[in-house]
Amino acid sequence: KILVMDFGGQYNQLIARRVRELHVYAEIQPYTFSVEKIKEMAPKGIIFTGGPNSVYGDSALPYDKEIFELGIPVLGICYGAQLMAHALGGKVETAPVSEYGKTTVATDSNSVLFKNVSPETIMWMSHTDYISQAPEGFKVTSHTPVCPVAAMECPEKGFYATQFHPEVMHSVEGMKVIEAFVKDACGCSGDWKMDSFVEESIKHIKEQVGDGKVLCALSGGVDSSVAAVMMSKAVGKQLTCVFVDHGLLRKDEGDQVEAVFGPEGNYDLNFIRVNAQDRFYEALAGVDDPEKKRKIIGELFIRVFEEEAKKIGAVDFLVQGTIYPDIVESGLGSSATIKSHHNVGGLPEHVDFKDIIEPLRELFKDEVRKAGLELGLPEYLVYRQPFPGPGLAVRIIGEVTPEKVKIVQDADAIYREEVEKAGIARDIGQYFAALTNMRSVGVMGDFRTYDYAIALRAVLTSDFMTAEAAKLPWEVLERATTRIVNEVEHVNRVLYDCTGKPPGTIEFE
Ligand code: XMP
Repeated sequence: KILVMDFGGQYNQLIARRVRELHVYAEIQPYTFSVEKIKEMAPKGIIFTGGPNSVYGDSALPYDKEIFELGIPVLGICYGAQLMAHALGGKVETAPVSEYGKTTVATDSNSVLFKNVSPETIMWMSHTDYISQAPEGFKVTSHTPVCPVAAMECPEKGFYATQFHPEVMHSVEGMKVIEAFVKDACGCSGDWKMDSFVEESIKHIKEQVGDGKVLCALSGGVDSSVAAVMMSKAVGKQLTCVFVDHGLLRKDEGDQVEAVFGPEGNYDLNFIRVNAQDRFYEALAGVDDPEKKRKIIGELFIRVFEEEAKKIGAVDFLVQGTIYPDIVESGLGSSATIKSHHNVGGLPEHVDFKDIIEPLRELFKDEVRKAGLELGLPEYLVYRQPFPGPGLAVRIIGEVTPEKVKIVQDADAIYREEVEKAGIARDIGQYFAALTNMRSVGVMGDFRTYDYAIALRAVLTSDFMTAEAAKLPWEVLERATTRIVNEVEHVNRVLYDCTGKPPGTIEFE
């Protein structure tokens, strides 16, 4: 495996992704990961990521020079390159000219990193410091007119560095550079595949669980579904999945989840569906503040789950559908609370369990999907859009009532059907209908109406942190609009949300 040492750059996850695309397992750890731990992990190579700091400033990050004495090949990228140069006796300075964006670099085809790369190629640069002098024993293998050391290497010791970012898409032959490091310099064979990952995970879970009892909160979302199926393959009926239907799911979703995981479904497990719709509607009656709604749903969800768990009694393990970006993101930085996200499946306090199992903790989202397909989950489930824990409650502005839930469910089902029919569903990050709290005057037949407006939203995004409104084909919007006003009672107007994030959020509350 390859260890990616995270120095706080923006592309750290991307580096790990690229390595995995080469079928080599990569793991990200913070820069504080100790040399002892590295020795224990025994990776075949280490990649230092970029980062916001300067190696010579006060804010220079601490690192252990011993890392260069382990005999493990190291690739430094951007700040990571400067760190290596600085540590091994080269010189790093503020560059007279910063380089940002696509940059033509000259490369040396007699080097390890660039032997398959064109002599002149485009790489993505983003730096204000540069290596003005490579350490002794290093050969300069790439430069630009303003950057004397765009790459350097010392293959005898296994040290490689690039000032540019080979991992980003704009670096045309960047993948070849990463491949040369991972395969030629580190000797990784590239046999890490999803089917073997799934197989090994199942084996590992079997050993870990033994004849213990396992409890899983199933939401029907991609992550918890894949986690549940993997557990079921490993321990069968020792697993109990509790599915809380809070009455805020999309149209027919509760039944779909039951059809897949219930007694009529395909998997060997105990399935419990808790129909708690009325309890949630009751708790939400009269509440229109978005944060209050979220709190009520989050807390009630845990309570209902705990009540069910109590009936089952003590269990040995609790399954969490945590995926890799959850771990990496929660480990770094802190940001203002825009809304209190809750994941159905958040940690209950009063459930009697000994340990947590997170079978997907090493996977990125698209890898979770691959694992799901590998495990035989139906495609519609594997490619489901993200759906918020509080469900439709954050898509109904103001007070939630069962009638409003029905309106938004019906409108949303029509909208999704039309988008799917148009064949553009997989190009859109997330799309759904929301019920505004606004009523307006309309005319239908010869009668005046005074009914609700539905808002349609579709966004393009890769990380859901920022997004832009999708330019949906007018015909799709028109068809969806006509059908919604005709087929859904109490709706006489449909609006399209053109707001990006920021300043909007993806959901309405
Ligand atoms: P926002 O509305 O914050 O949404 O721009 C970003 C992404 O997160 C999803 N979302 C949630 N997911 N629990 C979740 O598990 C929540 O409480 C929650 N709120 C929003 C939203 O659907 C979008 O994909």
